[in-house]
Amino acid sequence: MLLLTLGTAAGGGVPQWNCACPGCSGARAHPDRRRTHDSLAVLGPDPSSWFLVNAGPDVADHLEAHTALRPGPGDERTPVVRVLLTDAELDHTIGLLRLREARNIEVHATAPVRQALRERLALDTTLTPYTTLSWHDLPQAGEKPTDVAGIEVSAVHLSTKRPRYAADAPEDSGWVVAVRLHDPVRGSTALYAPALAEWSEEFGEEAAAADCVFVDGTFWDDEEPRRLGISARTSTGMGHLPIEGPGGTAERLAPLPARCLYTHFNNTNPLVDPSAPEHGILADRGLEVAQDGMVIEL
Ligand code: MLT
Ligand code: MN
Ligand code: ZN
Repeated sequence: MLLLTLGTAAGGGVPQWNCACPGCSGARAHPDRRRTHDSLAVLGPDPSSWFLVNAGPDVADHLEAHTALRPGPGDERTPVVRVLLTDAELDHTIGLLRLREARNIEVHATAPVRQALRERLALDTTLTPYTTLSWHDLPQAGEKPTDVAGIEVSAVHLSTKRPRYAADAPEDSGWVVAVRLHDPVRGSTALYAPALAEWSEEFGEEAAAADCVFVDGTFWDDEEPRRLGISARTSTGMGHLPIEGPGGTAERLAPLPARCLYTHFNNTNPLVDPSAPEHGILADRGLEVAQDGMVIEL
């Protein structure tokens, strides 16, 4: 399978429209530092049957930016678009509204994510006059996976963190998941986890067995959101394990055999500046900083 990193930023992107912090100002001054909302395209054995993991505000620009994801040849329109979701957060889901020109949008999500989108965001009611929305359950890892375009997909449950618009919805371990992608022909496996609130034993085992792991890189250290005044909570308190420090993901990922890449960078993260010394710290541990537009063959 081929993985194409369409975007690598957390909610707001880099730069964020209403922010003049060093990360956002730096991206305005240096366009190569710009990052769009995190999303992944997956191409299986039939490269014309690509699908997406997460569809954020940039989705149509993502599809336009990559030749393999454009319609055609000829004057055909892309008839069906398939989207797997890691959670119901707005930065991962509002792209579904932007995809309404499709004849059919196939959405693979866990039950609580589906319910939030249908009942809280009223996506069925809103989109039915434009397109057909088909909902599919994303099975839990270990259960029979779903075949999507020749790739076996399932979900490693990560946390009960609900989006702010559904904060009072019932707890469920499937609110935030890592999407597991397995190519049965190549025998390769990837995990995509742009929101990781805690390092569970199950996630550790799945990551240890994978060939490639994308992990939440929202914040560099736990105090970053408080220090920079964007939240009263720590990174962990906001549902994002930090990269560095005790309990951070870097020390967990470094020993793994998998190729490990961070994604979902907030504009406050020092890693959005390519000259920041934090890049060397990760490189010394064999860990990578994903960029928009990377292609990974597994
Ligand atoms: C998150 O990653 O924590 C959310 O996307 C933040 C938000 O947009 O509320
Ligand atoms: Mn987010
Ligand atoms: Zn900023």
